Amino acid sequence: MSTKTTIWDGFIRGYHWLQAICIAGLWYTGTEGLMDWHFSIAYGLLALLITRLIWGLFGSETAKLASLFHSPRAVIQHLGELHQPKPAHTAHPHKSDIGHNPAGSYMVLGFFVLIAAQLTTGLFANDDIVSEGPLAMYVSGDLSSRLTELHALNFDFLLGAIGLHLAAILLYRLKSIDLIGPMLHGKKELADQAAPKMRNGAIGWGVFVAVATAIYFLWAKDIIIYLF
Ligand code: HEM
Ligand code: HEM
Repeated sequence: MSTKTTIWDGFIRGYHWLQAICIAGLWYTGTEGLMDWHFSIAYGLLALLITRLIWGLFGSETAKLASLFHSPRAVIQHLGELHQPKPAHTAHPHKSDIGHNPAGSYMVLGFFVLIAAQLTTGLFANDDIVSEGPLAMYVSGDLSSRLTELHALNFDFLLGAIGLHLAAILLYRLKSIDLIGPMLHGKKELADQAAPKMRNGAIGWGVFVAVATAIYFLWAKDIIIYLF
């Protein structure tokens, strides 16, 4: 017998889609030079990522950072099983496939590193006109320029990772494995496995409000007041 079980809490789902919207906004505002908007969205994304990492320590079982580390053997085994034409794979996933599967986990870790690098280099970046990240004044002009170049280069890596992410999701779809539905409504059909331990996503949003408020008073207040 299989039942629909919640595998993604409300914080993870909201985090995921808001993060995608923020990155689209940062791409547009960064390339169009709309720096006040760029900074404001970036501070929002910074708050989201910091909260996601905290949630990775205290959140639901499927959100735990510890659950993202799998051996290379588990990745190979998972990818090998994808080739086997068994519909059971959809309804009877491995225990390790209930959250992010072993291959997807490395993709997720890669995203965290790339987005953190993008945010960090941005904090030190300058546009050679009037805008500079809030930490640019603590480093030399030369280092700030180099980190600005890295900011542009790392974004290309981030775009590459997003392309790979979407291609992988399409590939699973072709194998009749729907990953998008669960990321929208949170539920997945599980057979006889124990349901993962979930935490109320509202707690995650509470942490987000605290982190966002701290960033607002630290760096974002003047820009946001100016924008509105
Ligand atoms: C800027 C674009 C995007 C980025 C940076 C991104 C990043 C991520 C990250 C970091 C996760 C892990 C979530 C977590 O545990 O916190 C994830 C999962 C996921 N993303 Fe995205 N994503 C993007 C766009 C999309 C889009 C457009 C779709 C749908 C078409 C999508 C579908 C999914 C799905 C289905 C999962 C769950 C995968 C699984 O079951 O393991 N993502 N994404
Ligand atoms: C994940 C978050 C971020 C993304 C995706 C992003 C993306 C981008 C992109 C695509 C550009 C245009 C690069 C180019 O000229 O080719 C840009 C420029 C810039 N970004 Fe970001 N950015 C992020 C975070 C930040 C943060 C946190 C700050 C500072 C608070 C920042 C400050 C800047 C500055 C000053 C520029 C202008 C650089 C120049 O004119 O060459 N960014 N960003």
